[in-house]
Amino acid sequence: MASSGSPSSPTAEGKLDVEFTVPAQVEVAGHLMAEFAQRHCSAGRRVVLVTSGGTKVPLESRTVRFLDNFSSGRRGSSSAEYFLDSGYAVIFLHRHRSQYPYSRCYAGVNLLDALLLQGGEGGSGQVVADTGALPDIAAVLRRYQAVKDAELLLPVEFNTLSEYLHLLKAAAQALNPIGSKAMFYLAAAVSDFYIPASEMPEHKIQSSNGPLQISMKMVPKMLSPLVKDWAPRAFVISFKLETNPSILLERARRALDTYRHQAVVANVLDTRRGFVVVVTPHTQVELALSEDEARQEVEIEEKIVANLTAAHTAFIED
Ligand code: PMT
Repeated sequence: MASSGSPSSPTAEGKLDVEFTVPAQVEVAGHLMAEFAQRHCSAGRRVVLVTSGGTKVPLESRTVRFLDNFSSGRRGSSSAEYFLDSGYAVIFLHRHRSQYPYSRCYAGVNLLDALLLQGGEGGSGQVVADTGALPDIAAVLRRYQAVKDAELLLPVEFNTLSEYLHLLKAAAQALNPIGSKAMFYLAAAVSDFYIPASEMPEHKIQSSNGPLQISMKMVPKMLSPLVKDWAPRAFVISFKLETNPSILLERARRALDTYRHQAVVANVLDTRRGFVVVVTPHTQVELALSEDEARQEVEIEEKIVANLTAAHTAFIED
């Protein structure tokens, strides 16, 4: 994800339209997002687009292999819950099968180990949840159903890099009409490199041809057209991940200088669950979990979302 070379390109949008084919689901998703944003804004709610999870970059057009990254989608899915708790309506643009709000609490639980069959013979009997395997299931289910009944969460899925890029553009255009009431919370880990369709082999790359060398192009940074053209009045938060803490804040500041958006949440791979820095043009706030909070399973996303929703209020009032 760390990139080399020029971080921004004035032709980012042009490159997107020319080099990444528009996936089939984008038009329908765009209409759904626009209707969702309008409905919730009319009801007095703010709307946040949360991006979450990593992207797949295919190496062959009939794809057998692809490049992926580490992102689990935990940051995005837990943040989505805290935004919902704070009264936002949430568009959750996430990688297919990455962590999802509420069900993330049970990621990794085998469904069949979490259910018990009581009474009856053969196929009859009653299926009940094993609350040992699914702790707090009643409370989590209640919160999930309340959000679902009120239609406060709109899930939109992507898999490949191309799907992510086009869906982000469609989301930005859908949220633009609600102006400063829209927030973009870009927690997804998006590939910086790809192979253009014209340079991709059609069929499976043969290992009998020997070691593989691939050359990849730079993915256009979507922050640039997002902030300048697609949703210029929105409150935009990007994320910056590094593995070397000594360059983190300088990279975060550079992103703010380059794209001129409102804040960067800076984090280091190994400590990202317990420490982040929210960097804005004039402030730098460290958010950390104390040992006590970590023991009580407080999540850093609760603090990130509290910080950013307050900043969003000030931004709207400005
Ligand atoms: O999912 P988890 O396992 O919980 O991990 C969360 C996380 C570490 C992935 C998250 O906290 C995080 O830091 N995400 C951003 C990772 C990153 O460093 O992104 P970047 O430097 O490649 O991109 C900077 C920003 O621009 C990001 O907000 C990204 O979403 C956005 N971007 C990136 C590429 C691109 N072509 N267009 C973009 O808009």
